[in-house]
Amino acid sequence: MVAYRSKVVERIELPSRERRERTLSEAGYNVFNIPAEEVYVDLLTDSGTGAMSDAQWAALIRGDEAYAGSRSFEELRSAVADVMGFEYVLPTHQGRGAENVLYGTVLSEGDVALNNTHFDTTRAHVANQGAEPVDCPTDAAHDRDSEAPFKGNFSIDRAREFVDEVGRDRVPLVILTITNNSAAGQPVSVENTRRVSEFAEEIDATFVVDACRFAENAYFVRERESEFADASIAEIAREQLSYADAVVMSGKKDGLANAGGFVATDDRDLFERCKPRTILYEGFPTYGGMAGRDVAALAVGLREAVEDAYVADRVDGIREFGQLLADAGVPIVTPTSGHAVYVDAGAALPDVPADDFPGQAFVCELYREGGVRGVELGSFAFPETDRPELVRLAVPRRMYHGDHFEHVAEAAAAVIEKRSDVSGFRVATNPEIPELRHFTAELEPISS
Ligand code: F0G
Repeated sequence: MVAYRSKVVERIELPSRERRERTLSEAGYNVFNIPAEEVYVDLLTDSGTGAMSDAQWAALIRGDEAYAGSRSFEELRSAVADVMGFEYVLPTHQGRGAENVLYGTVLSEGDVALNNTHFDTTRAHVANQGAEPVDCPTDAAHDRDSEAPFKGNFSIDRAREFVDEVGRDRVPLVILTITNNSAAGQPVSVENTRRVSEFAEEIDATFVVDACRFAENAYFVRERESEFADASIAEIAREQLSYADAVVMSGKKDGLANAGGFVATDDRDLFERCKPRTILYEGFPTYGGMAGRDVAALAVGLREAVEDAYVADRVDGIREFGQLLADAGVPIVTPTSGHAVYVDAGAALPDVPADDFPGQAFVCELYREGGVRGVELGSFAFPETDRPELVRLAVPRRMYHGDHFEHVAEAAAAVIEKRSDVSGFRVATNPEIPELRHFTAELEPISS
């Protein structure tokens, strides 16, 4: 079943091979430096890059720009209450703004935050408070060959071990990221959510769900957790989020918007404690860091994101894209996630030594072959960690279709075919903040 049809279209063009070659070199072999006009299929991120619906565009026009108490805020408050089940909402400019507001409120110097896996902005915001981000993924999280249904789950055993070591007083915050973006976008079960909630209560910690991709996660729950086989996406989403004390949300993912985010909670006291930081860093609490029109579009998008037909189209589309790549001989992480296909670049380019950034080599070759932009999420993006050499091909929502995915699969197949000629890279410029180097660093090809 197809959930929508096109009403407005945008022309795109595949630049010539010579132009792609020149663009790559001028960008210092870092695809973040490539102008979007030079990209044919842009799979850099699924964040804020999707197509809005006609209803969202209509809402934009009706957006209320009042500084305090705008009607658009009321629409968002009502959508968050209906879709996610929380009474109090603080809008922010995007997800990381919500992280800054909430984590800056609940964390102090020397604290520890536990998370199934911290996404990079989450890690940075926890660290920015002088606290320590500790990951508690399951053993299957980074096992490419495991077909476990919920590889994104939070390991309570790992967390308990850690808490026994440092003492519960140091752990005021437990976060559950659904889906688990930094573990190949793998989903989290409702059962695991319940157990993490109990664990957080036991150690007297605030339990936060990072709900960026909560609707896509709900689709996997329906498919893989028998208790929910007959439930709607909307019902599952509410059930899963009901265990959280608060959520941080990026409206740029499952809010189907191009901007925005929020903190939401039922805890009046927590809400009041978060307000000053919202005012300080974002804006007055009824618009946060957003224009009223963006608040209005997000309110509509949140409701659309839990429609069964939309989510099925979304997640099944990613699965078909993964199958196309697998059929083309590209080693991918399975099961596929709800927002991206993750390529195992170490396996795709076995001749590129681990120290020469095989993931970045794959990303550059994919651009060279097809004008396709993906992103490296291996040792270039995460220095000094032992993460697998993954490349993420993230799919913007409601934007690309079958022909685009076939083009990407063909380009990836061409990369695999010439794998023995592909060389790696060395980092040529090192930015000041090492955790952020993959956004700006330039690289040099290592000639073989
Ligand atoms: N949490 C998770 C799990 C995320 O994936 C992101 C963003 C954020 C928080 C921050 O949200 O971008 O609105 O400030 N992920 C994007 C990505 C950037 O490409 O995966 P934001």
